[in-house]
Amino acid sequence: MGEASATLLHDGQVVAAVEEERFSRRKHHVGFPFSAIEYCLREGGITLAEVNHVALYWKPWILRHKAMQAARSLLISPAMFKARVDRGVTQVSQSYLGMFRYPSLLRKHFGPSDFEFHYLEHHVSHAASTFLVSPFETSAILTMDGTGEATTTMMSHGVGTDIRVLKRIKLPHSLGQYYSAVTNFLGFDMFAGDEWKVMGLSAFGKPEFADFFSRRILAPKGADSFAFNIRVLDHHLAKRYQFSDELVAELGPPRGPDEEITERHQNIAATAQVVLEEVVLHLLEALHARTGEENLCLAGGVALNSVMNGRIIRESPFKRVYVQPVSSDAGCSLGAAFQIYHGLLGRPRSYQMDHAYLGPSFTSDECRSAIDASGLTSEVLPDDELLPRVARLIADGAVVGWFQGRLEFGPRALGNRSFLADPRRRDMLQLLNDKVKLREWFRPLAPSVLEEASTEMFGQPHLDPFMVTVMPVAEDQQARIPAVVHVDGSARPQTVSRRTNPRYWQLIKEFEKLTGVPMLLNTSLNVQEPIVCTPADALGTFQRAGFDALVLEDHLIVRAAH
Ligand SMILES: [Fe+2]
Repeated sequence: MGEASATLLHDGQVVAAVEEERFSRRKHHVGFPFSAIEYCLREGGITLAEVNHVALYWKPWILRHKAMQAARSLLISPAMFKARVDRGVTQVSQSYLGMFRYPSLLRKHFGPSDFEFHYLEHHVSHAASTFLVSPFETSAILTMDGTGEATTTMMSHGVGTDIRVLKRIKLPHSLGQYYSAVTNFLGFDMFAGDEWKVMGLSAFGKPEFADFFSRRILAPKGADSFAFNIRVLDHHLAKRYQFSDELVAELGPPRGPDEEITERHQNIAATAQVVLEEVVLHLLEALHARTGEENLCLAGGVALNSVMNGRIIRESPFKRVYVQPVSSDAGCSLGAAFQIYHGLLGRPRSYQMDHAYLGPSFTSDECRSAIDASGLTSEVLPDDELLPRVARLIADGAVVGWFQGRLEFGPRALGNRSFLADPRRRDMLQLLNDKVKLREWFRPLAPSVLEEASTEMFGQPHLDPFMVTVMPVAEDQQARIPAVVHVDGSARPQTVSRRTNPRYWQLIKEFEKLTGVPMLLNTSLNVQEPIVCTPADALGTFQRAGFDALVLEDHLIVRAAH
């Protein structure tokens, strides 16, 4: 079902948007987003009685196609059928059928209200989540995920407030399920969202198996489609770490979770990545020809593949690309809200999503209460003292937890709930491992760069406030910032705007004054948990982990040396 979330819209502006996991503290929380809704209403200062429309990003009655797929799989293999039906039965009874009770569930929990309830198609919600908040008046739209009700990939054309669907590609042909299946073949866990590990690993390998993959697993089909061959690689079997004989004969055995990562595994990852990119570029050629657009909007879980996004920007026929930063299902709550506002109510567009700071924030007093409750001591400093001091700590090798303003919506910390560190240090990965969390050695660390300095660092103009694109770092810059340059010379930067995050921008500026480097290493403030939400969450993480300092708004807590 994907990550649960809620978004509140008022007069076409986002009042609040947040994932349920940030409150429940369970990663990728699936289920009804009670806490997220409660927060949105509180942030808006309203009750459910004042809400006119509620939309869900699923049409639960489109189940027939899925049932047909399950039946058809019996013809291929009994194991495949069993894998589908087991999963299918629980999904139908618990998730899909439960959706019909959502309107009454809402009223029961949040009080009486005569809102209208709408069930929207999943991929239309993904498409709306990107196009309707993009800077474009018209645009081609491509959405790709594991699966919606039955659609896995959708091409559409956005014109004004209208989303015109051009093509739906349906199960079993799914780019998301293809990538998840490879994720499990490599010994990772698709249910933990480990797809990024395959992407990170892909930079180390060569696409040695590309021939086999394109011939037998995933390939472009016709002018505007693709085919995924589940006889060779099946997502549902892969969930149980079962793989076909043909696959094992060609690639060797699947990797066990604790097995060492070898060159073969890296080459499989590189192959999976390249073959995905080729298929997506093929789809984009068709979409470009069909729409005649120079603008492209992307969403759906596959659009979180930042390496692929980089290639799309460089190699697709589109001149301008907007990627919804919350491309996972969490972003569908935002898309559904905008689809109602524009698609159903016909209101004109007035919102552009140029930042993701849409969640809860906390006052200095609230931070103080949490610090008092934790037993820690803090200093309160004005920014003209605090920011230079934090910059100095970082330049001296500290890892700093940085907590300010509204929580980010989406999987990336963008300078409001972040660990910050010095990008110049070659030993940063080791340092972070010692002080913060166990990270896989192949996981690239990402920088936040002043947007004014982006061209210098990347050798070409590049703006990305959301960290959704991997870019080559300018060759003359790579040696200056080894901690954030991946093995292939790339990085996944966030460009920080003075307008949308002035305080974070100023902190990086202070670091630049000290070091000449206009960027900080930025990774999300969490240790094997969802990104922290409240001051108490941040303090808990500080007390459990070993990083050096924590900033909560204007409070600075420095760990005592021992
Ligand atoms: Fe989705």
